[in-house]
Amino acid sequence: MEIKLNSPLDMHLHLRDGEMLGLTVPSSSKTFSGALVMPNLTPPLTSASSVLEYSGRIKEHSSGDVFTPYMTLFFKNSYTREFLHDIKDKILAVKLYTAGATTNSEDGISLPIGDDTLEVIGMLEELGIPLSVHGETTGFVLERETEFAAAYDELASSFPKLKIVMEHITTTTLAELLGRRENLFATITLHHLLITLDDVIGGALSPHNFCKPVAKSPRDREALRHLALSAHPKVMFGSDSAPHPRDKKESCCGAAGIFHAPFALQLLATIFEGAGKLENLQGFVSDNARAIYDIDPPPKTVVLEKKPFTIPKTCGGVVPFLGGSTLEWSIKEVS
Ligand code: NCD
Ligand code: ZN
Repeated sequence: MEIKLNSPLDMHLHLRDGEMLGLTVPSSSKTFSGALVMPNLTPPLTSASSVLEYSGRIKEHSSGDVFTPYMTLFFKNSYTREFLHDIKDKILAVKLYTAGATTNSEDGISLPIGDDTLEVIGMLEELGIPLSVHGETTGFVLERETEFAAAYDELASSFPKLKIVMEHITTTTLAELLGRRENLFATITLHHLLITLDDVIGGALSPHNFCKPVAKSPRDREALRHLALSAHPKVMFGSDSAPHPRDKKESCCGAAGIFHAPFALQLLATIFEGAGKLENLQGFVSDNARAIYDIDPPPKTVVLEKKPFTIPKTCGGVVPFLGGSTLEWSIKEVS
């Protein structure tokens, strides 16, 4: 059995910087046609020059692969209309983090959302720049996303022309909210389709399954699987592949982030075929994102075949998600 995917897109990806680009960029550029690149570097991407230079470094590492890095800018309350107007054609979205919610988010906004933040969000609406959001409070870890739902609802109604992407949703609450506001969209990761909190702390502590937002209950996972497997038109694939070196994960203060970009399509094909929904994979992994972000990614055809593939136990100093396990699908050809 085979499946052919046209221009797969990963609409939430962490490529890091420096030496790590040697691992991360080819891991995605080989099989994806484009990716939305997250700006939570240290320091975060907050200027036109830093966005352009970073995009240049990414392209240098993609070694001739057909691959478009769609860039994001880290949301700051200090942005002016002129600045956003000038940077608009260099980015696809502005990414808003709540301070302290995740890796390298210290420079994010504080909650409740203040007038200075709303003013900048109003500029984004006016300029037609989508807002991508890490929607979590800093409350009790299992309630953080649900606590942020009211903020999503309020933003969506106050700025009806603004496209708001709820990143890496993990709860039934947000899965339901998606249907209630026309201008709310969502990404769903790979790992949240597969694991629950039990796979992180239910048995032995599993640092390589630890990410933000943390995986939730089987019921939440079911709601996400329903959206993804039906290729709900408001939902896109965003892997949230976010590598950290092994020693930063296997530590007394372990970093949040899961790495699986090089095996994302093999894993997705295994999940979709297992559920009898292989025909919806193209929508989830490309067509929905094209429509939502109004992009035309470069042509790339990926043929996957039903043939066992074993995920390596390590990749350049990073332990990948499900390392050592065997999947039912492999990449046959990329053209
Ligand atoms: C991401 C990272 O490491 O940059 N970590 C994660 O657990 N997902 C940041 C993020 O997307 O929250
Ligand atoms: Zn992320």
